[in-house]
Amino acid sequence: MSVRAAVWLRGLLPLLLAWPAFAAPAAQTPPLDSIDQRVQPCMACHGREGRATSDGYYPRIAGKPAGYLYNQLLNFREARRDYAMMTYMVERQGDAYLAEMAQYFADQHLPYPPPQAPAVGTAVLERGRRLVNDGDAPQRIPACVACHGARLTGALPATPGLLGLSHDYLMAQLGAWREGNRRAHAPDCMAEVARRLTPADLYAASAWLATQPVPDDASPAAPIAELPLECGSAMVPTEAKR
Ligand code: HEC
Ligand code: HEC
Repeated sequence: MSVRAAVWLRGLLPLLLAWPAFAAPAAQTPPLDSIDQRVQPCMACHGREGRATSDGYYPRIAGKPAGYLYNQLLNFREARRDYAMMTYMVERQGDAYLAEMAQYFADQHLPYPPPQAPAVGTAVLERGRRLVNDGDAPQRIPACVACHGARLTGALPATPGLLGLSHDYLMAQLGAWREGNRRAHAPDCMAEVARRLTPADLYAASAWLATQPVPDDASPAAPIAELPLECGSAMVPTEAKR
């Protein structure tokens, strides 16, 4: 083959491959830019259909309130949360695209794996249980259940559940809020809660939460009318309706 013909063929090759007759049969290829195709890369880290994987750090995203997931995608895009790979995944995407992905994962209802076995003593676990269910009045810590729902499965439209997350992930998130590395829509009630927790209490609350089984019906509670602190993140921002 002459050099000119080879160069010409190389130029043509991408066109040929893009031509339907050369591509895989239509039945095997999801339509270009379908939601099923868009969420594929997410599963490498978040597990199939957004379940948590065996690596405790990657949070489960399946079945969380759509408003919560959407707010987080905005938080990564707008640098209120900082995790390079997540920022990369969403930095060029528009609101509608992110809202659609959030809804996709919110609609996945899958069984949760059993909780972690407790790795701390009973006194620590008891302190954690009290903080979560009753708070601590002298330290002005509201009960976590007051916002995250009586069954800790979250509340609509945008407050996440606290069960089914690993001890490591919970501590990292609360620590990030204390240090100002995770932020939510203002007023940021979680920053307030995290700053009122001593490091020992933060550890205890996370430890207790990580050992609790997720109820069979993990659906979030109805919206809670009166929260103990004002939370900009307990709702979906109105810009979301753009
Ligand atoms: C390279 C691994 C990786 C990929 C790929 C990835 N994520 Fe993540 N994602 C993470 C990690 C790690 C976190 C927790 C980051 C942190 O510490 O705040 C996270 C956090 C999240 C959260 C917040 C969860 C919560 O409970 O607050 C959402 C929502 C999310 N990812 C959605 C997605 C979507 C949608 C995609 C695909 C477009 C995706 N992720 C792709 C690693 C990944
Ligand atoms: C005043 C209401 C309120 C109280 C009280 C509260 N939370 Fe929250 N929490 C929220 C809201 C709203 C969010 C969602 C924030 C966002 O969008 O980033 C949240 C998010 C979280 C997250 C992130 C979950 C994830 O998947 O990344 C953790 C962890 C958490 N809260 C733990 C706690 C613990 C532990 C307590 C009790 C000591 C508590 N919260 C008390 C309102 C509250």
